[in-house]
Amino acid sequence: MFFTTRPKALLVVFVASLVLLLIQKSSAHSYADCIDWRFTNPKNPSWSDKNGACFGYARRFPIKAKPFAKLDSDGPNRHYQQSHKNPDPNHSLPCSDGKEGEEPGADETMGIPISAAYNGKDKRGRIIGVQTTSKPGGELCIRWPAKNHAVPNEKNQPVVIALSEVNPKKDPTQLEFLDNIIAKLDYKNCTDKGENTDIWPCGGCFKLPSSLKPGNFVMQWLKNDAVICDKIIRDRSTLGMIGRLLA
Ligand SMILES: *[C@@H]1O[C@H](CO)[C@@H](O)[C@H](O)[C@H]1NC(C)=O
Ligand SMILES: *[C@@H]1O[C@H](CO)[C@@H](O)[C@H](O)[C@H]1NC(C)=O
Repeated sequence: MFFTTRPKALLVVFVASLVLLLIQKSSAHSYADCIDWRFTNPKNPSWSDKNGACFGYARRFPIKAKPFAKLDSDGPNRHYQQSHKNPDPNHSLPCSDGKEGEEPGADETMGIPISAAYNGKDKRGRIIGVQTTSKPGGELCIRWPAKNHAVPNEKNQPVVIALSEVNPKKDPTQLEFLDNIIAKLDYKNCTDKGENTDIWPCGGCFKLPSSLKPGNFVMQWLKNDAVICDKIIRDRSTLGMIGRLLA
């Protein structure tokens, strides 16, 4: 076992820093908002809050911090852009550590134990979402806000879903993630398209490989600016662990 048991209270040690409140982002980047979205009525599948609910989140995702689609202008923001100075996806940090990248933001580092990233509160004292639980071959529907990237004149770049091996001791490198892509989703699969194109809810559904062994996995949600393994990956964000896959 590489994870020691520590009291849940540990997370609370990181008291909210007032500095964070001063950061205001004006960028419009998408991010994975929900990892396990379930439609209330499968006959009316819609990504709107009115027509479904979320049952699993990315690491340290503050669930009630802001209305849908507004966490890219939060402090810290929820999206993660790999450094543009070294736009090499193979050697970029795969998960935001809150410090590196083009616009430092959310802390997506692995929790110790893993469950610590899904329990309690974030550094600003906001309640964070639970870990996603599924099973080998199970279907997951992931949701994201369109921001300004689902309008007709934007190129439709796929959302790429990549997976780690079972029970990784640390997060995969970006190259390892790109080596295990399990799904490509239509970024512009949005519903409830109102006047404000930034807040269109979008999402995609896919099946997990049925060959998975039960355990913990890290899953990455990735939106490219270019084709896979080409030079630049810009808007991206990681998903957290999928917990306890049931055989
Ligand atoms: C597109 O979104 C709908 C919900 O409106 C969902 O049922 C469907 O599975 C999505 N399509 C894909 C390919 O993910
Ligand atoms: C990243 O790795 C892949 C697979 O090894 C390789 O094909 C690609 O050229 C690499 N990309 C860069 C920018 O080095």
